[in-house]
Amino acid sequence: MTRYVRLLVIAGACVYASAQSAQLPLGPSTFTAPGTFPTSLYKAYYNNPTATSAQPQPVILDPVSHKIYPFSLTNPERIPQSNTQDPHILPPPASDALLLQNAISQITALAANPVFANSTCALCQATLEVAKFLALAAPTQGPAFAVALCTQFKLSSTCAATYGPTALGAVLTQVFANADVGGYDGQMICQNFLGGACAMPPTSQLDLTGWFAKPKPNPLPPPKKPSGERLKVLHLSDFHIDPRYATGAEANCTSGLCCRANNFNTLSPNTTLSAAPRFGAFKCDTPLSLAAAALEAIPVLAGTEKTGFALTVYTGDLVAHDSEPQLSRDYILYTETLVYDLFKRTLGSGPVYAALGNHDSYNQAQDATHSLGGQLAQQFSWNYDHVAALWQYEDWIPESAANLARAHYAGYAVERKDGLRIITLNTDFANWFNYVNLSHPDTSGMLRFLTDELQAAEDAGDRAWIVGHVLSGWDGTNGLENPTDLFYQIVDRFSPHVIANIFFGHTHEDQLSIFYANNGTSIAADTALATAWMGPSITPLTNLNSGFRVYEVDSATFDIVDAHTWRSDVSSYPALDAQTQFGPTYVYEYSTRAAYGADIPWGANDSLNATWWHHVTEQMEANSALVTTFHGFQGKQSVRTQPCTGDCIEAKICYMRSGSSTLSIQNCPRGFGSVQGG
Ligand SMILES: *[C@@H]1O[C@H](CO)[C@@H](O)[C@H](O)[C@H]1NC(C)=O
Ligand SMILES: *[C@@H]1O[C@H](CO)[C@@H](O)[C@H](O)[C@H]1NC(C)=O
Ligand SMILES: *[C@@H]1O[C@H](CO)[C@@H](O)[C@H](O)[C@H]1NC(C)=O
Ligand SMILES: *[C@@H]1O[C@H](CO)[C@@H](O)[C@H](O)[C@H]1NC(C)=O
Ligand SMILES: *[C@@H]1O[C@H](CO)[C@@H](O)[C@H](O)[C@H]1NC(C)=O
Ligand SMILES: *[C@@H]1O[C@H](CO)[C@@H](O)[C@H](O)[C@H]1NC(C)=O
Ligand SMILES: *[C@@H]1O[C@H](CO)[C@@H](O)[C@H](O)[C@H]1NC(C)=O
Repeated sequence: MTRYVRLLVIAGACVYASAQSAQLPLGPSTFTAPGTFPTSLYKAYYNNPTATSAQPQPVILDPVSHKIYPFSLTNPERIPQSNTQDPHILPPPASDALLLQNAISQITALAANPVFANSTCALCQATLEVAKFLALAAPTQGPAFAVALCTQFKLSSTCAATYGPTALGAVLTQVFANADVGGYDGQMICQNFLGGACAMPPTSQLDLTGWFAKPKPNPLPPPKKPSGERLKVLHLSDFHIDPRYATGAEANCTSGLCCRANNFNTLSPNTTLSAAPRFGAFKCDTPLSLAAAALEAIPVLAGTEKTGFALTVYTGDLVAHDSEPQLSRDYILYTETLVYDLFKRTLGSGPVYAALGNHDSYNQAQDATHSLGGQLAQQFSWNYDHVAALWQYEDWIPESAANLARAHYAGYAVERKDGLRIITLNTDFANWFNYVNLSHPDTSGMLRFLTDELQAAEDAGDRAWIVGHVLSGWDGTNGLENPTDLFYQIVDRFSPHVIANIFFGHTHEDQLSIFYANNGTSIAADTALATAWMGPSITPLTNLNSGFRVYEVDSATFDIVDAHTWRSDVSSYPALDAQTQFGPTYVYEYSTRAAYGADIPWGANDSLNATWWHHVTEQMEANSALVTTFHGFQGKQSVRTQPCTGDCIEAKICYMRSGSSTLSIQNCPRGFGSVQGG
């Protein structure tokens, strides 16, 4: 256990909710971290951890590989510009017969398309046909073709660096070789990656027979009786720790990740406009100083210094937003080791159940499906094996769950002794590999795994929480239509009797989705079934404050009875650099029940379930000020959040009622999902 110096503790224990509830005591409403780094966190450092001119560089020993990560990996002054050390796997050469077959299918596809002359979509798909042929015939040429494609379609200003052979070129070659580029896969690639050359194809028809599930029980088993005893559960998300954060570098850079020695403002390349503060900035990821401050604040504010949390959910993304050429396997492994170890030593005894984020991977945001077969099926196993071993090493999950994680892209299920099952998923299939076989909603098998685990929970009479990273709904810009449509049907099938709550992250913003019966065909209080909570991020990127949340959870139903959110004002960080007495302050932001529930007739011990949240959206329809409140919380009250007015009000309510991308895209106004524009 680490010793902390508490410098400033303002106010006594707070009472936030009505007196008759069994509400748990929290700590003080405000905590100011010490102004110097808690050097006792690590045994050894590569630099002087008390110097304020640079971020501390701890010496990290990986308990899985027994490797010590070298300083060169995170040296902020020497960021690599190309990864020549890790393998970039290419598919095996195709047989002559397959090349012939593919050549024929190319000319068939082109000849069969009468609008080719006028259609950018047809042109795009024809181009992909050529890419596929090349990827199959001469895979080593695939990356060069990907760079040419990027240049021709003006996809990026860094085509060679991003799609070349030491970056994403090999991944694209694999996707071209395996995707149905003349069909649905090709239309979606052209829609989402090649400048919208094709219109969005409709969501595919789902076949809900077969493995999907037994019919939903009718009537449902009676709801579990609340115990009245409450557990404290921490929800953390999107740390995005930046081990290459350069204090004093340009915090107002014009491209890439700011607060980096290699990123400037083009208007003022030689003079820093805004020097990166020690504790972070709006266009930067989390420096170690901010991570330490947040982890010092959490147990004090939550009142868990002595008890720890019953459990913690971590909804993904540990790694900084480095550009592709700066990444490597070691950089991912280092960050996983660093952050999980910090959680272990600062959060107390309860287990942390973590989902993998899209950034927690190399290549970035890539996870290949097992259906690719051969060595391609296992190309990311090094990462799943590593996190599974770390989670087991930290004593958060048993060996059986670690083995599930190795076999299911880091997703696993845990049967806790208290009757709660935690099912974590890799929901990062919004990646290039997802475009192979995309008309099938579950090529990876991740949702089949979820269904089987939910069926087991139903059979055992247990309740379950689902923990993932990329959200399934909201404004429809994150998850792909087909998989999120299937996810929505699975949630309907197992709610509310099995699924008690769903947790996601990814957007860095405080958001919420409600799932309804019958694919959302009737949106009403009595059809609302389940809720997904998107947890606020620790990273300020982009234009956000830093935040975290604690739920009060009934120990028998595992329903949420209240949610408490804290935030830290990032605009106050530059002023902290003038002294070393005080670090960042985290303040109590709001109680979900108190913020939205004033006019909802609800018992003091009734849970904040989907029915309650639907009532909240009805209150929002009647009173747009409540949407304004929600919008403020969404960015954690950042000074950079622009107001939500006009169509934004209606859009926000619609997003809250859209648990799948398909429903959001079909029902809601576009363009109001994020508050990060300002
Ligand atoms: C292409 O567009 C032109 C002018 O809009 C039209 O006359 C022609 O018929 C179109 N060709 C095809 C194949 O659709
Ligand atoms: C809420 O639950 C607590 C603990 O079981 C109980 O003491 C209290 O009376 C309940 N309040 C209401 C309004 O039911
Ligand atoms: C920045 O410095 C370089 C090299 O000293 C110089 O050539 C360039 O003109 C400077 N740019 C500006 C905008 O001052
Ligand atoms: C940040 O840079 C932009 C130009 O890239 C400039 O317009 C703006 O004023 C700068 N802000 C600060 C705080 O330096
Ligand atoms: C496509 O998906 C189906 C159903 O999930 C699966 O059986 C098949 O193997 C997949 N094909 C490829 C090439 O991934
Ligand atoms: C759910 O509704 C959407 C929007 O109408 C539709 O596209 C999708 O096919 C539906 N899914 C199922 C399984 O019926
Ligand atoms: C939510 O809680 C209320 C009050 O306990 C209950 O009537 C309702 O059925 C619950 N809704 C769901 C979806 O569980």
